[in-house]
Amino acid sequence: MGSITTPDHGTKFVLTAEALNKALPNMHPSTRAVHADDFVTPHRAIAPGMHTAVNFRYARDPEDLVPEENKDPNAPDDSHVYSRYTAPNSKRLEVLLRSLMGGEVITYSTGLSAFHAMVILINPKKIFIGDGYHGCHGVLDIIQRLTGIQKLELTDVDQAVPGDIIHVETPLNPTGEARNLAYYRAKATEKGAYLTVDATFAPPPLQNPLDLGADVVMHSGTKYVGGHSDMLCGLLVLAEERVKQGWLKTLHKDRQYIGSVMGSFEGWLGIRSARTMQLRVMRQAETAQKLASWLQEQLSDPKSSVGKVLSHVQHASLQKDDLENGWLQKQMPGGFGPVFSIWAHNPEHARRLPSRMYVFQHATSLGGVESLMEWRAMSDAGCDKRLLRVSCGIEEFEDLKADILQGFESLLRDFS
Ligand SMILES: Cc1ncc(COP(=O)(O)O)c(C=O)c1O
Repeated sequence: MGSITTPDHGTKFVLTAEALNKALPNMHPSTRAVHADDFVTPHRAIAPGMHTAVNFRYARDPEDLVPEENKDPNAPDDSHVYSRYTAPNSKRLEVLLRSLMGGEVITYSTGLSAFHAMVILINPKKIFIGDGYHGCHGVLDIIQRLTGIQKLELTDVDQAVPGDIIHVETPLNPTGEARNLAYYRAKATEKGAYLTVDATFAPPPLQNPLDLGADVVMHSGTKYVGGHSDMLCGLLVLAEERVKQGWLKTLHKDRQYIGSVMGSFEGWLGIRSARTMQLRVMRQAETAQKLASWLQEQLSDPKSSVGKVLSHVQHASLQKDDLENGWLQKQMPGGFGPVFSIWAHNPEHARRLPSRMYVFQHATSLGGVESLMEWRAMSDAGCDKRLLRVSCGIEEFEDLKADILQGFESLLRDFS
């Protein structure tokens, strides 16, 4: 990291895309987040342009016309035909994210459309999936109508046969607990199944499931890639082996016909946001760990209002056995994710606590710069009514702690 080797250029040096691409892998992710897309467009603007075009002029010289291709020799990565196929902003975001995610990236209109694309690409007879985001289960219920796909628990992975999917969400929504990907990779290899990972809750640099052998990693980019609660986006990141097998090409073709592309405005917002993803996510994860640990300590203090309201706190950073065992730290080298959950003794307390907050907003979703505390039943009626999901934003830790403390005290004053 931090070394740029300069070959001997003589007196004339002009930086080329090739030279930059060679240097990028030695740069820190926070540098790549700002420069990995420098050569996508020949335009000289420092900030990316916002393109709304749906269609793109073909080459003027008929000799240069190639059916279904519209390659601009000055900008091979910025060559388009029709924006349902590819478009300047989302394509530029894909180039940038490729550098941050460590594998080829394809973007989608939402996290769920990315999940849908992944399942129909692999088209398994069975998918092993535990709890996790209820929306992914909703997508599988729709696919079940078409293909009869069977949904099984992750605890049943021994029943997997070649071609099935083992789908692991980690850290898990809504609790923020982490799962051991090395274990599921070993199971997938033994059974000839594919390992797919929903890594929405901890994008790089917190963890990178490709390093642990995932075949496909999906993210709801709506969360940490977007990071400002103002855009929807999904992405799939592919292991090199799967790209070689032609999966990226097939996904592009499928997306072209299903039409689940990101909007151009979202692509533009995504580039602006991905530049700071590293900074935001590291701070958010650090805040979550500090808050979860402080709350956990308070639980054992009989005088604390925390223990009077809460029964327990869940977060990957509190998985003591897994930390002692060693796999957790290894799989999440950058931190344990900015989301954790707290459980009230009394569902009425859980329902009322978010309304007592000054800084934490009572809303669903996560990953934005604003801290949220959601009575989870509001967006997932099946969820335990005692659970509150906490998503840490970028506000100052001491302010968030003070907000929680005053919220608990105010709640107990009026509803003990
Ligand atoms: C873990 C996880 N996966 C997938 C999704 C779906 O993402 P989107 O809302 O972008 O479709 C979500 C949304 O909350 C999520 O939390």
